[in-house]
Amino acid sequence: MKLKWAVSVLGLMLSMVLCCGCIAEEKTDTEELRVGVLVYNQDDLFIQSVRDELDECFRKTEREESCRITVSFFDSMGSQLTQNEQIDTFIENGYDVLCVNLVDRTDAATIIDKGKSANVPIVFFNREPVSADLERWDRIYYVGTDAAEGGKLQGEIFLDYYEKHRETVDKNGDGVIQYVLLEGEPGHQDAAIRTESCIKRIKEGGAGMERLAGANANWKLNQGKEKMEAWLQEFGDEIEAVISNNDAMALGALDALGKQKWSKIQAAVIGLDGIEEARIAIQEKRMIGTVINDAEGQAEAIVKLALQLGRGEPPKNIPGMEKRVVRLPYELLTQ
Ligand code: GAL
Repeated sequence: MKLKWAVSVLGLMLSMVLCCGCIAEEKTDTEELRVGVLVYNQDDLFIQSVRDELDECFRKTEREESCRITVSFFDSMGSQLTQNEQIDTFIENGYDVLCVNLVDRTDAATIIDKGKSANVPIVFFNREPVSADLERWDRIYYVGTDAAEGGKLQGEIFLDYYEKHRETVDKNGDGVIQYVLLEGEPGHQDAAIRTESCIKRIKEGGAGMERLAGANANWKLNQGKEKMEAWLQEFGDEIEAVISNNDAMALGALDALGKQKWSKIQAAVIGLDGIEEARIAIQEKRMIGTVINDAEGQAEAIVKLALQLGRGEPPKNIPGMEKRVVRLPYELLTQ
């Protein structure tokens, strides 16, 4: 999976020119659809899984719909400016529909206006444009989740674990959980909201919570690991829980815990996304659980929308769609 993803940017650009992003090998006499997909940063582990699912789903749709679908993926490498230019390239090359994972979710207006003036519809995903931007045109859609629900489910996993393992979790027996918090990017809808609703749910469940420290680790494993290493230096065995807005940062914390100098520091670590490495860590009881961010369901909704919009049809039969926003449900995954 990872190898597939690790295509160089140059390769991706060549794929656009040479059209090797084409899914069909032979041209059919039926219609042809050209889809441009842009991701904010291909190093993001969850986005890699969405990208893989999209690839698979476009192939499947092509077989089922007897429609030739050309899909080209671009990595915007964390730059909104780059992404805006990539949009121009797709539009100039006559693409029918764009699927966009914004770099800066508060800065969608430029892209929307470009799409609107060329009449190329856009399906945004994962990084939610602000509602004022979504109102700019009626051929733009969003596919994502409900951040508050994700955080709440994390809280439920935590409470359940705490009830069953109270003595191991509350190491100092003071009836309060001393925790550290790994947050995603500042300004991302899935960071602050997940945190808030997770902590709220745990408190509602009756567990006392004391925050020792918290920091943005931008969804990244390495940054999660660095923050955790520093907190282990500072708080050592006082840390009873690590609450992370996603799995990658939680895995970074596990790395730090595994490499600690102190012998027996244990902490209940929880993430969100359900990426492969986290599932393994849960099976091995190194993590207490995660909340599955349904990459497959999101990809299916994006592909359905792209197909219908690209064909000029008004979208229909999209599960969970309200107005032009689709929110897929989360699921729990525990030990
Ligand atoms: C979140 C996901 C994170 C990260 C982020 C990127 O929904 O949980 O792991 O991928 O999206 O926008």
